[in-house]
Amino acid sequence: MTLLKEISDLSAKKNLPDDILSALQLIVSKNISAEKVAGEDLLQAAAPTLGVEDIIAGVDALLTGWLTEGEYCRQFELQLAKTLNTKYAALVNSGSSANLVAFASLTSPKLGERAIKRGDEVITVAAGFPTTINPIVQHGCIPVFVDIDIPTYNIASDLVEAAISRKTKAIILAHSLGNPFNVAKIRQLADKYNLWLIEDNCDALGSTYNDEPTGSFGDLSTISFYPAHQITTGEGGSVIINNSKLKKIVTSMRNWGRDCWCIPGKDNTCGTRFEQCHAELPDGYDHKYVFSHIGYNLKMTDIQAAIGLSQIRKLDSFVDARRENHAYLKQLFSEFEEFFILPEATINANPSWFGFMLTCKDGKVNRNDITKYLNSKMIGTRLFFAGNITKHPAYQGVEYRVVGDLTNTNIVMKDSFWMGVWPGLTKTHLDYMYETVKEYLTAKNLL
Ligand SMILES: Cc1ncc(COP(=O)(O)O)c(C=O)c1O
Repeated sequence: MTLLKEISDLSAKKNLPDDILSALQLIVSKNISAEKVAGEDLLQAAAPTLGVEDIIAGVDALLTGWLTEGEYCRQFELQLAKTLNTKYAALVNSGSSANLVAFASLTSPKLGERAIKRGDEVITVAAGFPTTINPIVQHGCIPVFVDIDIPTYNIASDLVEAAISRKTKAIILAHSLGNPFNVAKIRQLADKYNLWLIEDNCDALGSTYNDEPTGSFGDLSTISFYPAHQITTGEGGSVIINNSKLKKIVTSMRNWGRDCWCIPGKDNTCGTRFEQCHAELPDGYDHKYVFSHIGYNLKMTDIQAAIGLSQIRKLDSFVDARRENHAYLKQLFSEFEEFFILPEATINANPSWFGFMLTCKDGKVNRNDITKYLNSKMIGTRLFFAGNITKHPAYQGVEYRVVGDLTNTNIVMKDSFWMGVWPGLTKTHLDYMYETVKEYLTAKNLL
């Protein structure tokens, strides 16, 4: 279907009159950036791939006049669950909120003995994004840090069993830069020791492990729709859920902690709205206002969800482009293997790559020097997020446990960086990235 046909179908089915639609098309196509010129425009490490149709979908949703969570959210949740081969999705307003809601849900008293309690231990890595780890600390639990493998940048799965203690209740791990962790091993350990597994799939939408989507293996998993990610809604995220008990808990946690599960605009879904008894409340207290969790309000809006629905239609092509770009860069950079460790996919995984990670090898290249150079040449670089979270100001004084040592985590903190593979980057851009690195190595008399 051509873009124009898709847009006119949208207007035919929905709320936009033709003249508004044409005006919108004109404005939006001007505002959505044209192809970047290598050497002149910044080649960002991560950026959204937005089409006119995405913006129009958002405007179209706005024109319904329904400003909060509604039908578009419901449709987007169904589509996400389908994409990930899971039962349910619960949209939230960011990937960080998704991690918070997922973790908080596993502390629900409704889970009895299995509920995570203050002082319990949760296995994770120190090399990653802070809000994968923060919910552990925010709930009074103890992060247990295991080192990572290079060059997959995922948890060293052989070390995980030694990290499990009597107090361990859960494992929470991200698929690093889109590269799945060893799901078979981690799932097997979670099952063996009766631990919850939260998969932080925020950087990895579209990745597979053993041909199954990442995000479908955990008891709960999370997605981020921040513009850097595979698809975007601006801010946004989702919890992915495979069982109905957890679904009720997750939606309660997200929706103020309430016990009622009516969708917005609906009442009395349970059929006993005024006939229930809860804790010390008067009999028949309106179920809409019964609170069974110390919850939050972290819902997404329909405007965001409409953009997400439009973006997710293009997910496969976005993932293909990321894979192609990663493979192309890897082939080009194989010439520099003396200076950099090149990234490797985990065995049995097909990553939806988030970035192209390089680790400077044997001190031949200084990470800070080369990233400064690349940025001066309009090539955006990023570090592997926090590097080693225990070294940050916010974590001084936080109680945690380290299993073994964090040798590779510290190497990544000091020597690694990544560049973009997002679909807006063309072969010309990637060639420029390669040529610029070559120029740098030559200037340093390394080539
Ligand atoms: C692995 C990981 N988890 C969680 C997040 C948080 O997502 P958000 O920015 O949507 O809060 C990010 C952010 O990029 C991330 O990389």
